[in-house]
Amino acid sequence: MITRHRVLAAALALALCVFSVLVAETASAQRGRPDLTPAQERMVERLLDRMTVREKAGQMLQITLNVVSSQTSDATRPHILDEEKARSIIVEYGAGSMLNNAETALTPEYWRELIGRLQKMATEETRLGIPLIYGIDSVHGANYTVGATIFPHNLTLGATWEPELARVAGVITAEETRACGLTWNFSPVCDVMRHPAWSRVFETFGEDPMLAGVMAAANIEGMQGDDLSSGKTVAGTAKHFLGYSLPRSGRDRTPSSISLSELHDTFVPPFDDAFDAGVRSIMVNSGEINGTPVHADPRILHTLLRERMDYDGVVVTDWEDIGKLIHWHRVAEDEKHATLLAIEAGIDMTMDPYNGAFVDIVVELVEEGKIAESRLDESVRRILALKAELGLFEETVPGPRDRAKVGTKAGAEASLQTARRGITLLKNNDDLLPLAEGTKILVAGPAADEVVPLHGSWTYSWQGTDAALYPDTPTVYDALADRFGKANVSYELGAKFNEPADIDAAVRAARGADVVVLCLGETPATEKPGDIGNLTIPWPQMHLAQQLIATGKPVVLVMITNRPRVVSAFAEGLAGFIWAGHPGPHGSTALAEIIAGDVNPSGRLPFSYPSEPNELLPYDHKASSSIGGGSMEQGYNPLYPFGSGIGYTTFEMSDLKVSVPSGFPTESDSPVRVNVVVRNTGDRAGAEVVQVYVSDKVSSISPRVRRLRAFEKVDLEPGEAQRVALELDAESFMIVDRNGRTRYEPGAFTISVGEMTHEMTLE
Ligand code: BGC
Repeated sequence: MITRHRVLAAALALALCVFSVLVAETASAQRGRPDLTPAQERMVERLLDRMTVREKAGQMLQITLNVVSSQTSDATRPHILDEEKARSIIVEYGAGSMLNNAETALTPEYWRELIGRLQKMATEETRLGIPLIYGIDSVHGANYTVGATIFPHNLTLGATWEPELARVAGVITAEETRACGLTWNFSPVCDVMRHPAWSRVFETFGEDPMLAGVMAAANIEGMQGDDLSSGKTVAGTAKHFLGYSLPRSGRDRTPSSISLSELHDTFVPPFDDAFDAGVRSIMVNSGEINGTPVHADPRILHTLLRERMDYDGVVVTDWEDIGKLIHWHRVAEDEKHATLLAIEAGIDMTMDPYNGAFVDIVVELVEEGKIAESRLDESVRRILALKAELGLFEETVPGPRDRAKVGTKAGAEASLQTARRGITLLKNNDDLLPLAEGTKILVAGPAADEVVPLHGSWTYSWQGTDAALYPDTPTVYDALADRFGKANVSYELGAKFNEPADIDAAVRAARGADVVVLCLGETPATEKPGDIGNLTIPWPQMHLAQQLIATGKPVVLVMITNRPRVVSAFAEGLAGFIWAGHPGPHGSTALAEIIAGDVNPSGRLPFSYPSEPNELLPYDHKASSSIGGGSMEQGYNPLYPFGSGIGYTTFEMSDLKVSVPSGFPTESDSPVRVNVVVRNTGDRAGAEVVQVYVSDKVSSISPRVRRLRAFEKVDLEPGEAQRVALELDAESFMIVDRNGRTRYEPGAFTISVGEMTHEMTLE
């Protein structure tokens, strides 16, 4: 059973005495702190004692691989390390960390050789021989390694509502990343999807803080395991702390305005869950909140993170973000001022990809008395401790032992299974799907015979747009032709992502088919290159859809895309709608299995699919969004709501029972128990997600209409019924007040599961 699992013990103890509690002030053992032996602790302290200020500043510096490369890699040329440039960064500046690939994926063998050469320099040519820690974005598998397992992106993973799949993805990603000699993963994204147009929507686990937190925590547990020196695990990074995913303009790294209450209610929880899971580092949001760039905000990086959330892992900046304090945010006059602001705010390491000036600046700042050396010690201690925990002092040059672990059959199976369980069927008029053998299918649209939208960005290269890099991935057309037989499946492009193509050919082909499978989407893109000014599907694709629908043939839309593009101009006319997100290299196989009925789809949307470009409300909006109409939900008009999804069977939920322990929640810390019977009323095995929502009727800060507070996915045979039991802890009934404090206010609540509701009053 999935329920909220924050650190509530201290808050509840307090709740027994007083009514309002400050949940976040729950001091526990510091979270994110490496688990070191006493000998390792002593080693770290001895090193710190011996280090000069310059060496300490060096440990806080992270440089990108491109800077030390004489040739970056692509499909046609291999990467070449420039030893002299590397020596300057590692030996002269004493950089403690490096990151990134150099343009495209490298083989595991080359990764190990490369890391080995860099580590040899760090350990043999520097005074103290401190190994480097190398960071990489293995965000959906070891995606910068040739031949590695690639998983669906997080949004599709979120749609499974199965934390076990997130955990397995974490295990496999870690094994394959570590097999390359890489030990630090910049993943998972803990941002919640709050602006559907944002270019990184596909990297999130969706719009709900609880779902995102549960999936992120499971992923971290898988990735980090119990022992970070095991040779199979890597340190994770919860990113991007905090409030990155609600840029007002919808464009990446642009300002957010977020109230304290919303910050704590919506954005903090997934990080809190990640900290509970022991994530060893965080990466900072590149943007600004309420006028202060997060990299310069001690209220977020110190007071909230260190004091209130009790987090003691490594804090790394995002890409060149000290520099952005000058040129983007304009809160600093020069590098020195910016460096001072970021260190004062609380960063431990600067991802200053292109140069080592940071080191000289920090030395100057310490010499001028503007930064205390003890402040550097705090950061360097965390960095050294992480290196020690990862075993880097023992095995500096990665050995060959893990050669066989990259791109295994088990990995491919796990990726396929994730796609099968995450792809979400939203509409299926007259049970059109699954399609019978022998159905004549036209596969059309720009994502139909393309591999890049299946993978998405962060696949081999940053933007992931080079199809030549993964020639073996079957397209949707390939997979359908394979499943239904070549003679039954035809293909027409009909439209490119942003340009028209031969639409008439597609219309002609549709007339000769029984069904059209229309694959729309967008070119993979992330961060700034993924910014858009219009959430509506580009017009060439819209026209194609309209013309195909006008043929009168049933059209099943398959969206293979970064974010939910608006399709209101033709949604009504669709016979079927499948949302796939970026389902990964096995996504096309999973789609063909779903279309053929070999797999009964069980994904549930982890976000609200907008019906129109201005209909962007999340499901947990405020009640006043409905002003002007009678219904509480009137302001929420998505094309498909959060949590929706259908399959090829039907489910019935009944007999909702709620038992509230006496004195809950102020005098009892036992949870509220919610029970419901789920029955598979169709004739196929299938899975349903039981979603438990709580609505607070009245509170001192306007309540959200409802919040997801517990869920569980259950697999049922035809006719089978199961009583599903879930628990709601005290926090499920709390609000975050205007000062950002989580607290309990007595009153009336509604618990809802499916169509059933239970009203209750708590003292
Ligand atoms: C992204 C991060 C990523 C980092 C390193 C940044 O531009 O925002 O998510 O981890 O680059 O590649």
